[in-house]
Amino acid sequence: MRVVTLPAPDDFDAWRDAARPLAAADVPPEDVVWQVGDTPTDLFAGQAVAHESAPSPGFTVPRPFIDLARNALLATDPERFALLYMLLARLRREPKLVEDHADPLVRRLETLAKNVRRDIHKMRAFLRFREVTDDAGVRYVAWFEPEHHIVRANAAFFVNRFASMRWSILTPDVSLHWDGKALSEGPGATKADSPEGDPIEAVWKTYYASIFNPARVKIGAMLKEMPRKYWKNMPETALVPQLIAGAQAREASMIATAQTNQRGDVGGNSQLAWEALRDEAASCTRCPLYKPATQTVFGEGPVSARLMFVGEQPGDQEDLAGKPFVGPAGQVFNRALATAGIERDTVYVTNAVKHFKFEQRGKRRIHAKPGAGEIDACRWWIEQEQMLIRPAVSVALGATAARSLFGRVVTIGKERGRAQQLPGGGEAWITVHPSYLLRIDDKARAEDEFAQFVEDLKKVRAAVAAQDTVLAE
Ligand code: URA
Repeated sequence: MRVVTLPAPDDFDAWRDAARPLAAADVPPEDVVWQVGDTPTDLFAGQAVAHESAPSPGFTVPRPFIDLARNALLATDPERFALLYMLLARLRREPKLVEDHADPLVRRLETLAKNVRRDIHKMRAFLRFREVTDDAGVRYVAWFEPEHHIVRANAAFFVNRFASMRWSILTPDVSLHWDGKALSEGPGATKADSPEGDPIEAVWKTYYASIFNPARVKIGAMLKEMPRKYWKNMPETALVPQLIAGAQAREASMIATAQTNQRGDVGGNSQLAWEALRDEAASCTRCPLYKPATQTVFGEGPVSARLMFVGEQPGDQEDLAGKPFVGPAGQVFNRALATAGIERDTVYVTNAVKHFKFEQRGKRRIHAKPGAGEIDACRWWIEQEQMLIRPAVSVALGATAARSLFGRVVTIGKERGRAQQLPGGGEAWITVHPSYLLRIDDKARAEDEFAQFVEDLKKVRAAVAAQDTVLAE
């Protein structure tokens, strides 16, 4: 029996350094016990094993395994080290195993990795700093209770985002301190160590103000989206009673600023707000589709886009890649855009439903149509995207997208190819979904339908140009 003692619960490098020679020597997983100890000198406590510096000839692992392992290793599940070693050992004989999403071991590790990713996003989206003054001046201190061992893994994000501030993040297991130049680590803390009182989170207040439009935002929905656990730490929830009570002067000026930002300062606040929105969507649990899906597939494209395309939901390939319209339907879509003279890089592309809905049949995941409840639950995100991007023209690709944008059942054949008003304002067009074109067997008809789709896209392109001409006058 080999006992491997890792120095810390999130030390991927130590796990890898121990696991590689074990796997190279074909040590069976049942002969290895993994544990976490206090001191790095314990690294190979049981029978000595070869260290990584002894090369393991010809033993490489695919990149997706490393990505999976780096995340799964941060889970609190005590079996994670052993499960990862099991997978590593099998990979030697089954090099494509990581791609087999139906394999129970791969699935279990993917679930761990997904939970970790969600926790990482929650920390980014919901951590709140409060201002304190110490001997050296102003410091921002935040308290956060992660579910997994994600704090060190998230440190670079906070260093980048708040590089010019002095800050501390306190958590039960470890604390991080940034002095504007260097990051240091301290022991865990308790909530009592963090300051109470008014948080000063201007950035986050600006974000919520910038997506707040009194005509359209449902405050209940906004609160529902923020896990209740985080409310008490969040300055923007302090805005809500004011909004409800109608403290209109302040809101009006915030909204005016935000709208100026949306139209003018597209490179600054709107980009930041969009990133925060995307990060929040990563941990969306508004409907049950998040459970089997790999990840949220959020919209993609410049915040300054004049044209927004809305599809139905991510497919199998989009679910794995985390990007919309990259699979077969995406290829048809790209070809049609290019034929219509629209550069994909310049448009914003998103979906009505942000998680892949499927039925598992053996190893295959078969697309399943989202229901009205799922479309409605996901509409909150589309509304936020619409408010931030403010496209000149939105295009619904297919019936699900139209149902989401218009809030009613739409017959494509009747309503396709002409400008319409969205219920919340803004011009929208309806056309077919690219996957409809893929399903047509008859070659001549398929070509004809493709040409009609391109015609719709050309009209949409002209509609954007017409609006921009009016704006320029
Ligand atoms: N179909 C969609 O509706 N959206 C995608 O992102 C991919 C396929």
